[in-house]
Amino acid sequence: MIKFSDENNLIDIDYASYKSRLSKIVTGINDKSIEGSDFLGWIDVFNNSQHVVDEVINENKRLRKLGKTMVVIGIGGSYLGAKAVDDAIYGQNLATEYKLLFVGNSISSHYIDEIYNHCLNNDFVLNVISKSGSTLESALSFRIFKKLLIEKYGEEGLKERLVITTDPSDGKLREFANKHDYTSFNIPSDVGGRYSVFTAVGLIPLAFGGIDIEKFLKGGADASKQYLKDDINNDAFKYALNRYILNEENGFAVEALISYRPSCRYLIEWIKQLYGESEGKNSKGLLPVGFIYSTDLHSLGQFVQDGSKILFETLFKINNSKRVVDIPLEEDDFDGLNRIVAQNSMHDIKMKTMSGVINAHTEGGVPNLVIEMEYLDDYTIGYLMSFLMYSCMYTAYLLELNPFDQPGVEIYKREMYKLL
Ligand code: PA5
Repeated sequence: MIKFSDENNLIDIDYASYKSRLSKIVTGINDKSIEGSDFLGWIDVFNNSQHVVDEVINENKRLRKLGKTMVVIGIGGSYLGAKAVDDAIYGQNLATEYKLLFVGNSISSHYIDEIYNHCLNNDFVLNVISKSGSTLESALSFRIFKKLLIEKYGEEGLKERLVITTDPSDGKLREFANKHDYTSFNIPSDVGGRYSVFTAVGLIPLAFGGIDIEKFLKGGADASKQYLKDDINNDAFKYALNRYILNEENGFAVEALISYRPSCRYLIEWIKQLYGESEGKNSKGLLPVGFIYSTDLHSLGQFVQDGSKILFETLFKINNSKRVVDIPLEEDDFDGLNRIVAQNSMHDIKMKTMSGVINAHTEGGVPNLVIEMEYLDDYTIGYLMSFLMYSCMYTAYLLELNPFDQPGVEIYKREMYKLL
C-alpha cells in the first residue's frame, strides 16, 4: 500500500543493528510501560470506533439537511487533519456540494470576516473542536459564529446546528455542552490533538465534506496492524530510522516534505505539526518544512540543489491519478514542444520530472527518501496518515523523547495571556 524507499538516502544503514531498539519500543507500547503511554489511545481508536462511526454517520445525515456549509472551528490538531484530508481528496472544492470552512485557526480579521460574510448569506452548521476547551483562537471564533447562528436561526437553531467536539469530562467547552445539552462528541482523554484525526475530531467534518469515513478508518486500522510490528522490515520504523540517522549522525537539521500535488499542501501542514510538536524538544529534532514542486523548484530549487547542506527531502510520490490531462499538439510547433507532448501526458511529465529532480538533488548531496503509493483516495490517505503517526512516534522514541507532550507550546500562551 505504502512503499518506503531509502535507495537515494546517500548513507548506508545497518538496520539489523537497531533490531533490539525496535523490540524495546514495541514492547513498551504494547505493555504501556513506555514514556507517554497515557497518550497511546490513538492506537486503540482503530479497534474501537464502530459506535463513533455510526453516530457520526447518523449525525451527518441530519446536519446535511440544514445547509451545505460546515464552519469548523479549531486550531492545530483540532483542524489540520480534516483540512488535510478534505483538500487532498477534493482539491479546490470546485465540484463539491458540501463545503468545509475552517476558522479558529487564525486571529486575522481579514480571514475571519470573509467566512463570516459567506455565512451571512448561506445556511451553515457549526462544529467547534477543542480538547482543552480553552484555546484562545478557537474560543474567539466560537463566540463570533455562535452569535451569528443565534441571530440567523434563534436559540432553537443554535441547538440544531451546533456540534461540540471536546474532552469527555474536562474543560469549559464540555461544561458548556453539558449545561445546555448541546450535541457533543468526545475526544478520548488519552488521544492528543495531533493524533486525533481518526476520532470525532476528524470524522465529523470529513463525513460532512463527503469523505467515506469507514474507508478512511479502515485505511488507518490496516496500517496500524502493519506498523506496530517488532520486525526490522517494518517500513514505518525504517523511515523513522532514516530520519533519526540523517539528523543525529549526519547533521541534517531540516526535512523538506515534498509533494507535486498542490492540494496536498495541508497534508504537509498536518505532518509539520505532527513532527514539529512530537520531536522538537530538549534541543533535538528535525525542522519539518514543506515544498510543493514543481512550483517551489522555481523558488527554492536553487537553494536545495546548491545552498547550505542542511536539508534532506522526503518525497510523497503518488504513482497514478484518476484525472487525465492530455496536452494538445500545435500545428506549427511554435514552442518546439511537439516531440515531448506527443510522447507524454501531463502525468508522464510529472513522473519524469520527479525522477530527474531526485537525480539532480542527490548529485548535489541532498539525500532523498521516498514514500510511494499508487493512488491517493479515502482509504489510502487513512493508511498514509496512520503510517506517518507510527513513523513520528518511532522517531521520537529513537531520540528518547516523549512524542505526546508539547511543553514548548505552553510558554507562548503564558506570555500572550500576560499581555492580554
Ligand atoms: O496537538 C496538539 O495537542 C495541539 O496542536 C492542539 O491540538 C491545539 O493546540 C489545539 O488545542 P485544543 O484542541 O485544546 O483547542
